[in-house]
Amino acid sequence: MTIRTGTERAGHRTAGAPFPPAEAPTTEPGAPAAHVTRSGGPRRTDPTEGDGEPNVIMSSLSSQSVAEAGAPTTPGASGAVGPARMSESADGPSFAGSTTGSPAGSDQLPAPRMPRHLLSAGDLDRATALHVLDTASRLEQVLGGREVRKLPTLRGRTVVNLFYEDSTRTRMSFELAAKRLSADVINFSAKGSSVSKGESLKDTAWTLQAMGADAVVCRHSSSGAPERLSGWVDGHVVNAGDGTHEHPTQALLDAYTLRRHLGDLDGRRIVVVGDVLHSRVARSNVLMLSTLGAEVTLVAPPTLLPVGVAGWPATVEYDLDAALPGADAVMMLRVQRERMGGAFFPTAREYSRRYGLDRRRHSLLADHGVVLHPGPMNRGMEIASEVADGPDSLIVEQVGNGVTVRMAVLYLLLSGEVAA
Ligand code: NCD
Repeated sequence: MTIRTGTERAGHRTAGAPFPPAEAPTTEPGAPAAHVTRSGGPRRTDPTEGDGEPNVIMSSLSSQSVAEAGAPTTPGASGAVGPARMSESADGPSFAGSTTGSPAGSDQLPAPRMPRHLLSAGDLDRATALHVLDTASRLEQVLGGREVRKLPTLRGRTVVNLFYEDSTRTRMSFELAAKRLSADVINFSAKGSSVSKGESLKDTAWTLQAMGADAVVCRHSSSGAPERLSGWVDGHVVNAGDGTHEHPTQALLDAYTLRRHLGDLDGRRIVVVGDVLHSRVARSNVLMLSTLGAEVTLVAPPTLLPVGVAGWPATVEYDLDAALPGADAVMMLRVQRERMGGAFFPTAREYSRRYGLDRRRHSLLADHGVVLHPGPMNRGMEIASEVADGPDSLIVEQVGNGVTVRMAVLYLLLSGEVAA
C-alpha cells in the first residue's frame, strides 16, 4: 500500500449542520443561554517558540494551506468573523494574527481561522479543516525527527480534561497532546470528584474559571453539555464527545488517517457501518468527510438509524454486501450497548452476520481499501479480529494520529489563531 499525503482541491461545499441543536444537559435545567466571551492571553504564532528553532510549522504551512483553501469562507457555528492575514517576512510567510481581515487593496489571501470553540465538526469549513490537518502533518514532521517529542508552545497555559464519561483513547491522547505542547494539564473525572456530591456542571465550570483554565476538553454523556459549558468559561472548549451528538476531534483524526493513506478525499467512497443511532463518531464523520468532498454511505439496520438521517449529507444503505464493493474505506462503529434501552436487533450473532466486517466482506473493498474503527471494539461482533489486526487495518494508527491532531487543535485554539 502506498502512503500519499493528500493535497486537496479548493472550492468545495461546506457541510451544513444537519443535526438539530443538542438537547441541554440534564445537570442544569434552568441555565441561562450560552454566551461567548474572549479569554485574551498572549498570541503565539510559532509552536517552536522559545525553543531556539525557526518557525518551521507556520512558515511552511501558511502558504500551503492558503493555496489549498482558495477563497476564504466563514466558519460556521462557533462564530468566526475575521481572518488572519498572511505576511511575508525575511523568514518566509507567517500569520500576522490580525482579526480585522485583509488590508484593502492587498493581494494577500486571508488564512482560515479556527472557531473560538470546537463543538461540532460542522464548525469547520473546508479551508479550516484542511488547516487543522495540515498543521497536524507539520507537527508530525517536526516531532518525528526529535528524540524529545515535546514543544514549548503552550508553556504556561492550562488545559483541563473534564471527563464525565469513560474514555481511554480520547482522554489519554488529549493529555499527551497538551503535555507535548508543554501545557499544564489537569485531569478531572466525574468519578471521585464533587460531582458525586451533586455538584452541577455550572458550578464545576465556575471552579475551572477561577483556576484560569485556558482550554477545557469536555466529554459528557449529555448531548450539548460542552456547548453549555462554552457559555460559562472564558477558555476555549473542545467537545471530546457529548452523548450521541458529536465527537469532532475523532472525525479530524479519522480524516487525517484517511488522507495519509488515500490522499485527497475528494470523491473517495467511505462506508460507515453500524450503530449510527447512538454514534457521535458517525455524526461528526458525516459532516467532516462530506466537507472534505468524500461520498459517505451509512449502513445500518433500520432500527439503528436516527430519524432525519435522510437529511444528512450521506447515502443510506441497509445491505452491507451491496455497499462495500470498491469502497476506499470502511469505518466500523461500536455497537453501543450502554446506550441501548431496548432491543435494537435480535441477537449479537444475527447482528454480526448481517453487519459485521469479516474477511469475506473485507475482500469486497477496493484493493487499496482501508479499515477504521474508533475503538473500543467489540471484537467478533462488529469486526472480526483477523480484520481488525490485519494489514489494511488503521485502527492502531488512528490512536497515534489522535495525539497529533489534538495537538494541532489545541495549538490553533490557544495560539490565538481563532476568530474574535
Ligand atoms: C468513541 C466514543 O467514545 O464516542 N470512542 C472514542 O472516542 N475513541 C466511540 C465509541 O465509544 O464507540
